[in-house]
Amino acid sequence: MKKNILLIGGSYGIGAAIADILQEDHQVIIASRTNEHISEKIIHHTFDVLKDNIETLDLPDRIDGLVYCPGSINLKPFKMMSPETFKEDMEINFYSLVRIVHGLLPKLKNSEQASLIFFSTVAVKVGMPFHTSVAAAKGAIEGFAKALAAEYAPNFRINVIAPSLTDSPLASKLLNSDSKKEKMANKHPLKKVGSTEDIAAMAAFLLQDESKWITGQVFGVDGGLSTLNIH
Ligand SMILES: NC(=O)c1ccc[n+]([C@@H]2O[C@H](COP(=O)([O-])OP(=O)(O)OC[C@H]3O[C@@H](n4cnc5c(N)ncnc54)[C@H](OP(=O)(O)O)[C@@H]3O)[C@@H](O)[C@H]2O)c1
Repeated sequence: MKKNILLIGGSYGIGAAIADILQEDHQVIIASRTNEHISEKIIHHTFDVLKDNIETLDLPDRIDGLVYCPGSINLKPFKMMSPETFKEDMEINFYSLVRIVHGLLPKLKNSEQASLIFFSTVAVKVGMPFHTSVAAAKGAIEGFAKALAAEYAPNFRINVIAPSLTDSPLASKLLNSDSKKEKMANKHPLKKVGSTEDIAAMAAFLLQDESKWITGQVFGVDGGLSTLNIH
C-alpha cells in the first residue's frame, strides 16, 4: 500500500536520503525551511519547527510514517557549555519533536499502523567527553519514544535510530579535511564514518511493513562503536 510519509527535515542530510529511497513507492512529504534539492515527486511545505505550528500545514488526513530529522551537534567541555546551549539543544531535538507528534496525533491515528522514527546518537549509550548537551537531549528522546510506543501500541510503532558520526551537512565541521575523516573513521570498528544512505536504509526498513513486529527499539547504526571494543 502506498503510504503517506512525512519527513520533518529532509531537504538534505539523512532525511533527503530517506526521501530518495521511498519516493518511488510512497507519497513523501517534506516539511523544512529550504527546498533546493527536493524532487518533483515530493510535496514540500516550508516549515520551521522552532516557529511554526504543524497543525496549520495542509497535510493529508492520514499519515502512515513520520520521521523527525532536525538535530544538533554542539560539542564542548561541560564548563564551556552554557545552560542556554542545553535549552537550545532540548528545544530543537526534543520539545519541537513533542509538539509535532502531539499536533499530528489525529492524522497518525487514521493510519492502520503508523510508524514513527526519531534520531538519537551513539553518545547516549556510550559516554563521550564534550557530548553532555546533545546526549541529554537525545536521552530524552529515547525515554519518550519507549513510553510513547508502550502507550500507543498496537496502533503506532515507534523506533529510534542512534547513529554515530555520519557524513551530512550537520557533521561537516567534524569531517572537513581528509585527516579528520581518517581519524574519525579509525574510531569505528568498521573503519568508516556513516553515510546518509547507511542511516536511511534502516529508517526506510522501519517505515515499511517488513518491520511490522518491531517497536520500542533503539537501533545503533554506528559502525560497531557502541558495542565492540577493538582497542
Ligand atoms: N550526522 C551525524 O553525524 C549524526 C550523528 C548522530 C545523530 N544524528 C541525528 O540524525 C538526525 C539527522 O541528522 P542529519 O545529519 O541529517 O542533519 P542535517 O544534515 O542538519 O539535516 C537536518 C534536516 O532537518 C532540517 N531542519 C533543521 N532545522 C530545522 C528547523 N528549525 N525546522 C525545520 N527543519 C529543520 C534541515 O532542513 P532545512 O535547513 O531546510 O530546514 C535538514 O533537512 C539529527 O537528529 C541528528 O541529531 C546525526
